[in-house]
Formats: sequence, structure tokens, C-alpha cells
Amino acid sequence: MTTGTESHGLRVSRRRAMQYGAMTGVALAAPGSAVFAGPAEGAGQSVPPRDFAPPEKGARLFEDAWHFHRGDVPMPKLLGHRVSYEATKAGGAVGAAAAVYDDGDWPLVELPHDWAAAEVPNAEENIAQGYRARGISWYRRGFRLDETLRGRYLELQFGAISSKATVWFNGIETAHSWSGYSAIHIDLTANAYFGDALNSIAVRVDAEQFEGWWYEGAGPYRHVWLVDRAPVHIVTDGIHADPRLQANGGWSVPVEATLYSIEEKDASVRVVAELLDDRDAVIASASTQVTVSPLARAVARLEITDVSPRLWSVDAPNLYRVRTRVSRAGQTVDERITPCGFRTLHFDPDKGLLINGEHVKIKGVCVHGGHAGVGVAVPDSLIWWRVQQLKRMGCNAIRTAHNAPSPALLDACDRLGLLVMDENRLFNVSPDYIEQLQWLVRRDRNHPSVILWSVFNEEPMEGTSSGYEMVRRASAAVKALDTSRPVTAAMSGGLFAPVNVSQAVDVVGFNYHQYDYDKFHDLHPDWPITSSEDTSAFMVRGEWFTDEDAHVKSADDTEHALWGNSHRQAWKEIATRPFVAGAFVWTGFDYYGEPTPYTWPTKSSLFGSMDLCGFPKAAFYIHQAQWLDRPVLKILPHWNWKPGTPIKVLVATQLDQVVLTLNGKTVADGPADPYQMFSADLQFAPGRLEAHGYRNGKLVATDAVETTGTPVRLRLTPDRSRLRGDGADAVPVTIEALDSRGRPVPTADMRVDLSVSGARLIGVGNGNPNAGFSGKESHVPLFNGLAQAIIQTERGSQGRASLSASAAGLAPASTILSVAAVSVPSVAPGPLRFMIQGWRQSPVVQEKPGQPGTLADNDMNSWQRVRAGTPPPFSGTTGYLTLAAQIEVPGNVTRNGGLIVLQTVNGAGSLWLNGEQKAEKTYVEAGAMKAAIPPGLTKLDVALILKVLPDQRTGLPGLVFLESEAH
Ligand code: GAL
Repeated sequence: MTTGTESHGLRVSRRRAMQYGAMTGVALAAPGSAVFAGPAEGAGQSVPPRDFAPPEKGARLFEDAWHFHRGDVPMPKLLGHRVSYEATKAGGAVGAAAAVYDDGDWPLVELPHDWAAAEVPNAEENIAQGYRARGISWYRRGFRLDETLRGRYLELQFGAISSKATVWFNGIETAHSWSGYSAIHIDLTANAYFGDALNSIAVRVDAEQFEGWWYEGAGPYRHVWLVDRAPVHIVTDGIHADPRLQANGGWSVPVEATLYSIEEKDASVRVVAELLDDRDAVIASASTQVTVSPLARAVARLEITDVSPRLWSVDAPNLYRVRTRVSRAGQTVDERITPCGFRTLHFDPDKGLLINGEHVKIKGVCVHGGHAGVGVAVPDSLIWWRVQQLKRMGCNAIRTAHNAPSPALLDACDRLGLLVMDENRLFNVSPDYIEQLQWLVRRDRNHPSVILWSVFNEEPMEGTSSGYEMVRRASAAVKALDTSRPVTAAMSGGLFAPVNVSQAVDVVGFNYHQYDYDKFHDLHPDWPITSSEDTSAFMVRGEWFTDEDAHVKSADDTEHALWGNSHRQAWKEIATRPFVAGAFVWTGFDYYGEPTPYTWPTKSSLFGSMDLCGFPKAAFYIHQAQWLDRPVLKILPHWNWKPGTPIKVLVATQLDQVVLTLNGKTVADGPADPYQMFSADLQFAPGRLEAHGYRNGKLVATDAVETTGTPVRLRLTPDRSRLRGDGADAVPVTIEALDSRGRPVPTADMRVDLSVSGARLIGVGNGNPNAGFSGKESHVPLFNGLAQAIIQTERGSQGRASLSASAAGLAPASTILSVAAVSVPSVAPGPLRFMIQGWRQSPVVQEKPGQPGTLADNDMNSWQRVRAGTPPPFSGTTGYLTLAAQIEVPGNVTRNGGLIVLQTVNGAGSLWLNGEQKAEKTYVEAGAMKAAIPPGLTKLDVALILKVLPDQRTGLPGLVFLESEAH
């Protein structure tokens, strides 16, 4: 069974019929509590299941009320000795990174946030990024942690930040994100403050950098959660449930749970893994005991056996879940739910893909993450809608080009039954980047939808020994974490080089090069191959005539990139070759950027089978005819033209005979080609064009297009009318103009003004790649009869929301949405006050100072550092001490004046501001001190002179705040 290739002394072991699941390999798993039959094709109203489902019990959103600054905040120039010294210490970050910084004037934003989506495209900006300005920005947020969280493990999780980011927690540089597609998980435990003390997160986002040649947005554009866990707990992405088919036909689920402990002694815990069905009933379970050492990881290995599950497939995506619990002394202390699905996976060099032993031709599309109006900050529910649109097109697979997808996409694919080729972003085998690749595998390996790991897309080294060596390493990194799926790489060349990447992968991915399929298969008959990318055809929705001057490409499926093919021909090359596992059409949807073959003023791609809004182009129907089993018959284009215009009508169908009638008279008939379908050259005359589709002589489908009148009124059609008031749920609303007989006018292009109440408008679009607006306006022109408004609920809202639309000369329209109350656990933003830290305490002197003492700039050591809010020690002596801190006064206090509040001072003494005594405390016991701050101050030297008594804890056991008068 094993063949070998000798090249450059390398022995590459072969025969790569990849069998995953059966005995050796894989199976899968999927999440979700319900066995989801998948929506009927064309079904609307399907409610996305998961917006804001916390990633684990107790996780709280960390998304509202971030202070946002567009542009960089230069670090202050430090000149003095002591400030230089302090700035290098843990917690000593300066400028906008500092624990305490005046961000009060920065506007508040809610995450997920893509600020570049609000930019109006500009010819001076980068074409690949859709001509939108990007750049540096800062985000800051204060928050409190309840005392009850002391001793818990605390982690802040950013789903992804575009593009590179540095994060400071309480003035400590705690994380870097090197990719705009990777999550970062930040352990806050050691440096967190509890109670009244304010914690702060500062994020510097560098979106000047880019990692793709498509629009990537700017900002933290995926969810942000704060999780708190027991001291001994399951780490993030710490469960691997890896179903395996046994020789006896039953299934087992080996489960690995990675635990971590912040305790100071070994801890022995019980780990139980349970397989849950769609009703949460426990089907089978396993348990083990494991010891976790302090500040170390331990892996618990269990095996759930003897399972006879319903299998997961694209047609019946039966889902289970694994619930893994950690308990101590009989008490559950942590719990994680992971998706689980059972399926085998086999890539055969002759037959392509077999799932559960049955042949499945991959009918896939490549997808970038963005959407009209919202940029890359696509709400989970809109991702769900987009996946449904693909399913309606007949698609059964998505390639996440060319990066880790949102978790919501995988969740939708698990539930709706789509396969995923999960792709790594940057091809680099140095440790930081291998870590990104392994993060992807750890995060996504429990999803049954994922069938391939793709380690790169089109790398210049693909035909070299460097490429080969790098892929060997990348593949080994993947397999260290998951042996259940093959590794591939999307190659655009080098396939025949003596040493090349195809020798290091399990399944060879072809980007284009369709004319090489046979040559390669003849040379390597034992190597499974799939298209990883094909087609790259151009279409502008609703257009039927190419106009190069206007940057318009006909949607008649005749236009494609030099390296690509039409939608019909590309599929023919794949469909007629059983050894090619399937297609990944470039692309499912248009995306901002890469306006090939044009440049400015074209801002978005023309490759989509759907436009930027997810409105079908002709390719959508062509794929339906190629990919769906039910009869498809669709006349293209619309029937509103100038009389006499010659129109090449295309009927997208897989039926074998088509008859076209115009106003009742047959104008064309004949056989339809299974790949090219049916075309007829007609002269446009107004009226009704009908298609009749036959199979084996039997009429099985009809379709019609009609010439409409002029628009008289607007229509709004939301995809769903019931929303959740979680501040995330979003629905696309289709905007059309109708004629007097209620027919949508396919050429309508008037401006529509929108107004929303009870919810918010987060984006508009119309799918025109040449449109010049940002997508954040409250008006939008129809383009070839359509536009889209995306409505999102406000957090905490309930009742009714409405969208109204008006256009000059047309009757307006409105639609009502009902909003259900949903509570979302979230971490409240910190109150608007300013905590004063960085205190220094002088040695005790015997003589009462007439003024607060001062510390020489080069003296690091003779005054102790003191953290306000922690109990001072007994001094054991008598005398006087000075406590001093210096701050820059926040702008609102400079403008309005304010108050300094010392919550608790122990000892009698005086409070001094900028060298003047402002308050006195005459008693020794604990008590507050306050003093007014006049407007106009920009710097404040705060000092306390306190009398020291041997049996007193003299100092600042309470926090010190500066509060604005306006507050
Ligand atoms: C491919 C590439 C895609 C996209 C496409 C356009 O070479 O992988 O990202 O650029 O071309 O045709």
C-alpha cells in the first residue's frame, strides 16, 4: 500500500489514501445541544442559535464602554532619572499604556469594533484593503473585580484583533498578538485588584500592518470575554474529544483534558467526561483522577466507550456534546462543553472524499470574513445567515480563506452540515507562528465540520525544498495535536518540481491549474487531490453587459481571470474527474478589496457567487443547478431592457430540455448541456419570458421573468422578525422598489433614507463594487434593484424595533421587529474616576516637617513604595512620615475642578496639594480625607504628613481617587 518517491535523497512515504476515523483515524464532533436537521433550502426565519453563548460557564462579556482613540498616542518623552527607572518596572507603563491614564475624552465604543468599516474609500489608500484608511488606534477600559473573585483564575480572551496588538493590564505589558486572526488569552490573576480598586486594560492596535491582500479591518473585531475559573481548572481550548470508530463498528471518544493549577500544593481532582445527546441526556461517560502540581499543567486522559451514535454528515448533521467536569471533594469546580460529532473521513486518490463510507463531492466556496456595512466585525447571527445562504446555493463546504475563521462560522457549519477547510494565515515555522497554527488546531479540532487543515495558500516556496521542509514542520505541528484530519496546502505552482510541497501534505490542494489535474494524477495516482481554489470569475450582480469604462462585468458567466475559469467550466473540470475530491470556488461572497481586474474607483471584488450583501448573482443559480438535487430552473437575466436589445438568455438548470416562451410564443427550445446549461440569443421585447424545464420528456419546473413598470413604493423584508435584545443579534433587511403590481423593479437605483427605532442600524450596502460610500450611512442607493440594511438590537432592549425607509416619489415602507429580553452576563465598565497610585513613603523622622519631604530624582531607595489600599505595617516607633504621589491631572478635573478623596487614612496629619496644606485630620483612627481641586491644574503633587505611633498602622489602607466636579 505504501509507495515512495525518491528525490534529493529525501524519502517521501506515499500511498496517501487518507482514512480518518475508521480504526486509525477520525471522527468528529460537533457542538450544540440540538440535532439540527438544517434549514430547508430557501427557508428563512431560522434563528441563529448562539449569539453570546458564553464560551464557558461564568464567562462574562467585556465589550461595552471601551474608550477608543483613533491614531497613535505617542509615548511621553521621559527625561528625569526616577521616571525612567519607574517606567521599566512591572506596572510602570507610561502614556496611554499606563495603569492610570486620562482617557476620559476618548469616545466610547462597543466591541466587536472595526473602525475602518466607517472609512469612506479613498483613492490614496491601499487597493487590497478596499481603499480604506487603516492605522494605529488605542482602546482602554477600566473595570472592577468583586472581592469574591480573589483566588480565582482570571483570563481575558480577545477573539481576534486586527492586525497586531499589544495589551497592558494594570500598566504591565501582558500580551502581544502577532496575527489579526488569532485569539489571545491573557492570564490576569497575579496582577488583578479586587474590591473598589480599578483595573485597567490598554490595547494598542496596529492596523497599519496587513497580513492579507483583502480587506482586514481595524480593531478588536471578535468577541471579548472575561472568564473566572476555580484555582484548578481546565485551560482554554483544553478539551480534545476525538471520536474513533472501533473495529466492532461501535465508537469510542478518547478525551484529553488539560488542567492547570494556581494553588501552592499538589491538587488531586476527579475529571469526568460525559457524552450528551441533543436533549442533554448522558449517553456514556468516563472518569479519572489526576494530580495537578502548582503552576503546572496536567493532562487527564479518558475514554468514553461503546457508543452507537447517529452519524454526522452534510445531510444529517447530528450533533452531540462532551461535558467535561472537574471535581474536588465531590464538588464540581469547573466544566467545559465541547462539540462532538461522529463521522469517518477518507480521502481516496481515485474516488475523492468519502464521509462515513459514502462519496461526497466537495461543492465548496472560499470565503473571506467581511460583509457590507459592518466590515470584519460581522455579528454571529449574520455569519449564521451567510452560511445559510451558502447552503441554499447547494454549497456543502467552506474554505476559510486564508485565515482562522470566527468560531461562529464553525458552529454554523457543524449545525447546518457544511465541511470546512480550515486555513492557517502566515506560513512561517518559527515558534511564534507555529504557536498560531497550533492555536488554530487546538481551538477547532472538536468541530466535526472541519475536514482539512490547510497550512498555507500560494507560497512562493511551494516548489522548493524550503517549502517542502517548512510544510513538513507545519504538518508535524498539526499532527502533534490532531491526527484525525489530513493536512493540505493550497498550491498554485511548483507541483512538478523535483522537491515540492505536494510531497509533504496528505491531500494535494490545487489552486487553479485545472489543466494539470490529469498530468498530476497520472504521475501520482496514489495521491489524493482536491481543488483548493478554482473559478475566479467576474460578475457584477444584475449586469448583463460588460462595460470596461464603467468597471462593470457582465454576470453572464463569460468573464474570468486569466488563471481562472467560468463557474460552469471550472465545475465541469472537477465534476468529470472522480479523483478530484471537489471544488472550492473563488468566492462565495464578494469582499472589500481585491477589485480585480479593476482599480479605483472599484473597491470590492467581483469574484463572489453572491455580492457583498449576500444577494445572489447569476453564479448562485448556476451553482444551485450544479449542486442541488432538486430540479433547478432559473432564467437569467431580468427582463427590463430597451426594446430590441439583443440578450443572450442563460437558463441555469440541470434539467435536460428547456423551452423558452416570450409572451406565450416559443422563442427557443432544445437540450440543455449538463455543464454549460441552456442559452438562447433573443431580442428583448417587453412582457413575460417563461422557461419550461423537462427531464426525460416530463415537465418538472418552470420559471418566469417579467418586464416591470416603474417603481411606486418601497418594500422592506427582514430575514427574521424576532430578535434577541442581547446587543448582538442582527438581521439583514432587504430593500426593494416595487411597481404598481407589487413586482420588484430590477433596475431601480434611487436613494433610500432609513430610520430605526428600538434598535440600531449597523451597516448598509448594495453590492455595487463601484459604490463610494462607507456603509455606515443612514441612507443607501438601490443597486440593480436591491440594497440591504443590517439592524442590530441594543443590549438590554426588549419590545419592538422598527425600520422605516423612504425615497423621493415613492410610497415609504416600514417593518416591525420584535425584540425579546435576553440577559447577557457582562463585566461593567469602571466608574469614571481616577485612581492615584505610585505612592512613596519617607523614612520616619523625629521632627515634624514644616513641608512634605522630597525625594531626590536619583534616589530610588530611601523612600519605600507603597500601594494605597493595602494595610500598612506597625511602625514600632514614633515620629513623622511623608507619603507622596505625583499625577497628571485628568482633563475633566483640569476643566471643571474636582475632589481628591482618600478613602481611609490611618493616623493624624495633614494633606498637601502642590505644596499647600489643604486638609487636616486630627484623630489617629482610620478616617477619610478630602480636598477640593481648583480648575486649571494640570499636575498635582499630593502629599500626606502623618504622625507615627508605634502601635498604629500609619498610612493608606484605603484607595485614593480623583473625582471630577462634573461627575
Ligand atoms: C488566488 C488567491 C486568492 C485571490 C484569487 C483571485 O491566487 O489565492 O486569495 O487572490 O487568486 O483570483
